Amino acid sequence: MQIHSVPTRPIPGQKPGTSGLRKKTRVFMEHHFLENYVQSIFDGIGGIAGRTLVLGGDGRYFNDRAAQVILRMAAANGATRVIVGQDAILSTPAASHLIRSRGTDGGLILSASHNPGGPEADFGLKYNTPNGGPAPEAVTDRIHAASLAISEYRMLDAQDVDLSRPGRTRLGSMDIEIVDPVADYAALMERLFDFDAIRDLFRSGFRMVFDAMHAVTGPYAREILERRLGAAEGTVLNGRPLPDFGGGHPDPNPIWARGLVERMMADDAPDFGAASDGDGDRNMIVGRGLYVTPSDSLALLAAQAHRAPAYRAGLRGVARSMPTSGAVDRVAEALGMPCYETPTGWKFFGNLLDAGRVTLCGEESAGTGSDHVREKDGLWAVLLWLNILADTRRSVRDLMEEHWSRFGRNYYSRHDYEDIPTDRANALYEGLRAALPSLPGRTVRSLRVSAADEFAYDDPVDGSRSERQGLRIVFEGGARMVVRLSGTGTEGATLRVYLEVLETDPARLRLDPADVLAPLAQAAEEIAQIRRHTGREAPDVIT
Ligand code: G1P
Ligand code: ZN
Repeated sequence: MQIHSVPTRPIPGQKPGTSGLRKKTRVFMEHHFLENYVQSIFDGIGGIAGRTLVLGGDGRYFNDRAAQVILRMAAANGATRVIVGQDAILSTPAASHLIRSRGTDGGLILSASHNPGGPEADFGLKYNTPNGGPAPEAVTDRIHAASLAISEYRMLDAQDVDLSRPGRTRLGSMDIEIVDPVADYAALMERLFDFDAIRDLFRSGFRMVFDAMHAVTGPYAREILERRLGAAEGTVLNGRPLPDFGGGHPDPNPIWARGLVERMMADDAPDFGAASDGDGDRNMIVGRGLYVTPSDSLALLAAQAHRAPAYRAGLRGVARSMPTSGAVDRVAEALGMPCYETPTGWKFFGNLLDAGRVTLCGEESAGTGSDHVREKDGLWAVLLWLNILADTRRSVRDLMEEHWSRFGRNYYSRHDYEDIPTDRANALYEGLRAALPSLPGRTVRSLRVSAADEFAYDDPVDGSRSERQGLRIVFEGGARMVVRLSGTGTEGATLRVYLEVLETDPARLRLDPADVLAPLAQAAEEIAQIRRHTGREAPDVIT
């Protein structure tokens, strides 16, 4: 087998965003595109000679082809070993776990998360560092710099590797270990949670539905929920992973998992509903008759985590991304633990987790996780909920209502305006940014602005500073609006407007969130001039 150095030129646009590089699948399939980026990752991390990597993805269209290219390039670049999921499949949290538990030098994850899959949809690739977490900005900057300087990539001339069965094989002088994608992850979950208690819960007639959205978690959920925990067969819906996710949008929220939410709102609804996304790191939680916002879920898990064996000793601290509601802050304050506010993106939690400053963290975008891996983890969140439900034998609604009575309720919603021309989105953002100093003291729709700034983050562990992380406008009484531009989109710009109203009046804890948030939504329109800038009458997606 021969190693070739293939001459190439930099391809513009290989700059990793919030979570690795995401592009249209067709772009990833263009001549040299994938190869350039993979070589840039290898170069950006100082070469991979003598190193061991993990490789796997969410199974979307092009996952299998890309994995073969990466294996040949890893061999050509001198890697000692690649641990790869069977059929090149690994959920993102399972990949994170393998990277850590096997003491590797990091891993490559093929996924565009919750974005649709298929030849006309999206693809993505990200590098995770040896701690199992997404590469921090210092590393992604080096990868980007390498992509701008690239002049050749290395490729082994070889046949495809058969990845269809666990076992060991070789490619050139590189070892390949093909692993069952579920086994290690399921074993980790058994160590964290009280599976006996959850089994008893199911035995008592507790009913659940889990929508795997034809994405990667199907086999994980079947093994853990149905086989190991004894949930009824059929608990897992859409459990067969498909390269195009069945034509759907594998994003677990009330828009894209509407069927599940409707089922949970019916009179004969099961006790518990949940869903996960394309690569298995997001989660949605629905009780009978009650959708739980991700921000509320994070807060409830923080308040109740001690019910699961792994967290019995309590939490060291919690962290949330800036746009996530302040619900978890209220729990942290009441329980006397530190609470960190980080920029959007899981990579910002890595240092806090590594330094042992936080145990739990989460984002409003349906991501929750803990120090067991360095990614958010969809099934983990579902299992922690199940452990809490098994221990308390209360309903999701009861638990949430009791939580709100104790800590107050942060009514919350996110409005997304998708595929806006980039110049218009930038004009809106820059216009609002420039107006920030004039906002405090102003009253809009009877809401008085108390503070307005652009969020910047000083990492308390490594001292690095991340600027321009979104605009925050806080109102008297605890309401808040946040405006930022997405860093994961593949078409135009996506504007995200996050709305939050804090309510502590016991008589106002069970209102319709849309009603409570309506005045704030109007104030946001007036302040940010969304209609004028975007030409849109309403958001495309409200979650
Ligand atoms: C979105 C979410 C963010 C999450 C990221 C990756 O990023 O908002 O919380 O970490 O996807 O799953 P955004 O598109 O807003 O940059
Ligand atoms: Zn995801």
